Amino acid sequence: MPVETLLHKEHDEARQGEAFAPFSVDPNAYTKKFYIESYGCAMNFADSEVVASILMENGFGATDQCEEADLILVNTCSIREKAELTVRKRLTEFRRLKKAQPGLLVGVLGCMAERLKSKFLEEEQLVDMVVGPDAYRTLPLLIEEATTGQKGVNVLLSRDETYADIAPVRLNSNGVTAFVSIMRGCNNMCSFCVVPFTRGRERSRDARSVISECQTLFEQGYREVTLLGQNVDSYHWIHEKDGSAVTFAMLMEQVAQISPELRVRFSTSHPKDITDEVLFTMLKYENICNYIHLPVQSGSTRVLQMMNRTYSREWYIAKVDRIRELIPDCGLSTDMIAGFCTETEEDHRESLSLMEYCRYDLAYLYFYSERPGTLAARRFQDDVPEEVKKRRLQELIDLHRQHSLKSMQKEVGKTFKVLIEGTSKKNSQELFGRNDQNKVVVFPKREHRIGDYVQVKVNSCTAGTLLGESVEPIT
Ligand code: SAM
Ligand code: SF4
Ligand code: F3S
Repeated sequence: MPVETLLHKEHDEARQGEAFAPFSVDPNAYTKKFYIESYGCAMNFADSEVVASILMENGFGATDQCEEADLILVNTCSIREKAELTVRKRLTEFRRLKKAQPGLLVGVLGCMAERLKSKFLEEEQLVDMVVGPDAYRTLPLLIEEATTGQKGVNVLLSRDETYADIAPVRLNSNGVTAFVSIMRGCNNMCSFCVVPFTRGRERSRDARSVISECQTLFEQGYREVTLLGQNVDSYHWIHEKDGSAVTFAMLMEQVAQISPELRVRFSTSHPKDITDEVLFTMLKYENICNYIHLPVQSGSTRVLQMMNRTYSREWYIAKVDRIRELIPDCGLSTDMIAGFCTETEEDHRESLSLMEYCRYDLAYLYFYSERPGTLAARRFQDDVPEEVKKRRLQELIDLHRQHSLKSMQKEVGKTFKVLIEGTSKKNSQELFGRNDQNKVVVFPKREHRIGDYVQVKVNSCTAGTLLGESVEPIT
């Protein structure tokens, strides 16, 4: 995975196929082993850590070698057709393993499990278990059933499941940065999107459990948490005793107050819901990072309407202006879709011109992939030819490349506080971390350690990385 995409694991191709190994656990303490592979967004990766916790409570140890597993789980994504094709290919590989190793169980979890339900068992004959995102507590039971030759299926969606009481087992962790789910599901019916169907209704997690998870992470040595939700700004939790409400800004403030040494990030913000209250809270706390992922999807108001995004081009631009007015150095990223139903060249030019206006530091760009069952699939024709979609996508990518390079170049000569996350893959004598605005910074190791904060002066850059040297340690 390119390090610059560390925050945005929801952009599926970025981390596809990564296996998890919880190194903190003694593998000999368990008789059976599971192997889990995760695809899709950060929430799916966070869910795999909940699944690992449930399995370990039930006598399974983890392995990062699928060949030595008794149970293989694939936590899947349905966001685009390509994501599903990757999973199917992988399941075919596991079927081969299953033939060679009778007794091996293969389970499919996550959004594809939810979308295809028992069809998965009928059509594919690839798996023994199909478990939707709200049914992970029943995994031990389903495994038991599958062991006796029955097929285990549970794809019930819940209105209140948040796994709040389950302490995730941090998988493949660097010990410095962690994801913390603060809500599940989504109530926004963006017409292109499968998530409301695969993840169900939006629900917010008990604020006390979010704070206590972040507190524990800090005590364990973690120095950054990313609060996760499909639409974090609509977080709303009501205290059962006194009926008081906790908004996202309030939750973020409480997390920031755990320690000034704990960085706080969040993803994803919906342009219709991000409030001044959130921006003022970001301003108030130095440890809340000045970085906002604000997906726009299209620059054309007409297309935005068809997408059911509930804002116009002008509304979005006004949000960006407001962010830059209040937090001038705020890093900004986006998601955009090229070639949505009926998109004309004029609409596409509006996407390009919006991108020109916003000059994103990072952009995740896709061409439209029709998803069965979504509002767009039912109402509109997927009528932009594939070659046109791809050409428009390429134009967005080319323009964004110019902006991201300029965004890196403007940092040369500046000094940033960087949280060190690991050793550079290219050079063991160098470390890498990120600055407040989420830019990756690489610099010589010297006496610094992973998990420390350090001031780094930037001397040069590539398109994705700032290169510098530490000027003064500040731990
Ligand atoms: N909740 C976030 C939001 O509101 O933007 C992100 C949701 S989704 C996990 C991540 C991105 O995938 C979306 O922002 C969108 O750009 C893209 N996406 C979703 N459905 C898509 C589709 N059918 N075809 C292409 N891209 C899609
Ligand atoms: Fe999908 Fe829209 Fe919900 Fe994001 S806000 S998950 S794009 S429906
Ligand atoms: Fe995430 Fe993919 Fe599901 S992006 S919510 S894992 S469809």
